[in-house]
Amino acid sequence: MFGARCLFLALRRCSSAPCPKHTQAARLRVREALEAQEVADDIKVQGWVRSVRSQKEVLFLHINDGSSLESLQVVADPTLENRDLAFGSAVEVQGKLVKSLHRMQNVELKAENIRVLGPCDTLVFPFKPRERPPLEYSRQFPHLRCRTNVLSSLLRVRSEATAAIHSFFKDHGYVHIHTPIITSNDCEGAGELFHVKTSNEAPEPGKDSHFFNVPAFLTVSGQLHLEVMAGAFTHVFTFGPTFRAENSQSRRHLAEFYMVEAEISFTESLQDIIQVIEDLFKTATSIVLSKCPQEVELFHKYVSPAQKGRLEQMLKNKFRIISYTEAVEILKQAPQTFTYQPKWGGDLQTEHEKYLVKHCGEVPVFVINYPYELKPFYMRDNEDGPQHTVAAVDLLVPGIGELCGGSLREERLDFLQSRLERLGLADTYQWYLDLRQFGSVPHGGFGLGFERYLQCILGVDNIKDVIPFPRFPHSCLL
Ligand code: 4AD
Ligand code: MG
Repeated sequence: MFGARCLFLALRRCSSAPCPKHTQAARLRVREALEAQEVADDIKVQGWVRSVRSQKEVLFLHINDGSSLESLQVVADPTLENRDLAFGSAVEVQGKLVKSLHRMQNVELKAENIRVLGPCDTLVFPFKPRERPPLEYSRQFPHLRCRTNVLSSLLRVRSEATAAIHSFFKDHGYVHIHTPIITSNDCEGAGELFHVKTSNEAPEPGKDSHFFNVPAFLTVSGQLHLEVMAGAFTHVFTFGPTFRAENSQSRRHLAEFYMVEAEISFTESLQDIIQVIEDLFKTATSIVLSKCPQEVELFHKYVSPAQKGRLEQMLKNKFRIISYTEAVEILKQAPQTFTYQPKWGGDLQTEHEKYLVKHCGEVPVFVINYPYELKPFYMRDNEDGPQHTVAAVDLLVPGIGELCGGSLREERLDFLQSRLERLGLADTYQWYLDLRQFGSVPHGGFGLGFERYLQCILGVDNIKDVIPFPRFPHSCLL
């Protein structure tokens, strides 16, 4: 029947369903059924009803189980209809997989038996058949929106992009490190920390945490722990949840997000870091496009029609590189007025980032060598006179702004020590100074915001729509 797949199907015959006919049938996921090249006599598909169309002679259902964007068409005798068979209900359909007469589908399931496992009250279910609700509407139902086409597509893309990023690093010889989620350091020094305490911890004056004996926080970056590991493995990466108590309601900030971070030893040039970022972006995106063509198309067609062309531009062209000083000059000469006047030494605001990307022809732009005073203590001093800079790099992308932040790290003990002493942090970071004392090497790395990456490839305007359960100020649903 399915050729080589017969054994596979036989092994998956289900034994738990009560109906004897159901117990015999081989279970197929919707995607497997849709991809089947041959007909099959006795199969079973389980999923949720996406549409019910009852005609005098025939009953049509569409079943989806999250394995593909496309649903499987089920054709049944109207006598198999029952009142619980409605949009949103969970069903098990047993029957024959036959060639479809329908032009759009290769096969369809001719039902012999339909069981409603979980009815759905369509009057109160927040989603309706054949509707594509706005993303803001679906966001109110984080427990149910994964059953819509848009969110289920997004989550399949997210899953494939995760795998693509892991395979990129694996293929390039990186060791994957699980950096800790609870940490005693503030890597970025920006004070945007969530404090970790036990639920029964009585506030004791002068004592921060009796659980760890030291103040403990949710990590804002795994970088410092990765630097430890780069000192043994040379090429390391981490990809995990990251937390920032930024009081921002913007469409590109979350309190909990995922960051991809890499750290590379024996790197003396920012160019090497830039190359890894560009390769990672292009390789992972090409894999996602080849694994999820229908899902990506759905976004490019209905969510952000301009994004397809933008993404093609990004993949086709070499990313640009400009210095921070050049960036400020470009902004000063811009024919438009900004809310924040651009000046050397100031942060690049979102409006500036947008302008720079536009100025560079809507391709991603690396901005390098930022003012020393703007960046965290770990960045390498360029020792370049009055306009004092560090070897930092930010990647700005169309529609989003900053996607990655990275740098060469200060590997020279004396430079790092004096910077930490000036900040009053030398004791706290004694272990970090140790790394510069015992076999220190030039090294560098970067962090890529995974949700911003998904926004960038799919054209999703709000970051809350690219993570299953968004956390942001004043909201922690579920
Ligand atoms: O630029 P950031 O702060 O860099 C670091 O944390 C470095 N220690 C990384 C490293 O070198 N290993 O953060 C990196 C990226 C940003 O460019 C942005 O894409 C994303 O993380 N990001 C956020 N994404 C969503 N919500 C937030 N609140 C974010 N803050 C940063
Ligand atoms: Mg940054």
